[in-house]
Amino acid sequence: MSDTTSADDGAEIPVVLITGGAGGMGVAAARRFVAGGWRVVVADHDQIRAEALADELGEVALAVHCDVTRPESCHAAVRATLAWAGRLDHTIAAAGLWTEGPIDDVDEFEFDRVMAVNVKGVFFTSKAAVPALRVTRGSLTLIASDAGLQANKGASVYCASKGAVVLLAKTLALDLAPDGVRVNAVCPGDVMTPMLRYQAEAYGGTDQDGYLAELLSKYPQGTNARFIEPAEVAELMWFLAQPTSAPITGAAMSIDFGLSSGIQ
Ligand SMILES: NC(=O)c1ccc[n+]([C@@H]2O[C@H](COP(=O)([O-])OP(=O)(O)OC[C@H]3O[C@@H](n4cnc5c(N)ncnc54)[C@H](O)[C@@H]3O)[C@@H](O)[C@H]2O)c1
Repeated sequence: MSDTTSADDGAEIPVVLITGGAGGMGVAAARRFVAGGWRVVVADHDQIRAEALADELGEVALAVHCDVTRPESCHAAVRATLAWAGRLDHTIAAAGLWTEGPIDDVDEFEFDRVMAVNVKGVFFTSKAAVPALRVTRGSLTLIASDAGLQANKGASVYCASKGAVVLLAKTLALDLAPDGVRVNAVCPGDVMTPMLRYQAEAYGGTDQDGYLAELLSKYPQGTNARFIEPAEVAELMWFLAQPTSAPITGAAMSIDFGLSSGIQ
């Protein structure tokens, strides 16, 4: 028996771990990486949807239950990845929650609920993944938002959480550069996923179409404005994971039709 692993048993096929992997952008990313020949770990606290996706993708995918608000759950997801695939090349921290409302209406429970997923979850997902990424000289993509680059009126907690993700990515990029590990933030505008539909239902009240139209009215494309497709964001995630993106680290990459470019 050789002490090196042959390509035949899949050991050389790269592996991506995606938290929030059963959500809108997570699913699109999983499909993109599988199409590119990678193996995918779909980590989500919605195990039913994670398993349904892994079943659909076949033997190149593994579903893992993960609650990113619990550091031990993040570490367990990485352990499960290594037990299954023997390596980890890229991690996408996409688990996230939306909230909005004026500061007077935000109580401690809501603040903690959102921060626990959007900030603590991204931090401990990163912490769990870093040792394995050092081995492969891999990379991390943290999903922030245009709301991490500019204020979104009425969404102070969400903006604070996404601003934290942007600077977490930049700081980790500096810290991990000597190890050859790259870290970037992706900052999408409004992407047509279950989160956007939840936003419209929860905060648009009886005028959900009006809520969505109001979002689109802020885009510089005017009457040609449209929502971003999850597959379009997945393409950027795929690009960032490639070795050809070697110089790209510490970036906060907008994919928002220019929404965050400045005041119109
Ligand atoms: N949809 C948008 O317009 C938009 C825009 C900018 C940024 N984002 C960000 O992109 C990321 C993905 O968003 P999406 O639109 O795909 O949302 P989504 O709601 O479709 O998916 C989020 C996923 O995260 C999972 N999740 C939530 N809490 C979790 C936890 N504690 N542990 C593990 N998994 C958990 C959910 O089960 C879900 O599958 C989020 O961080 C979001 O804030 C979304």
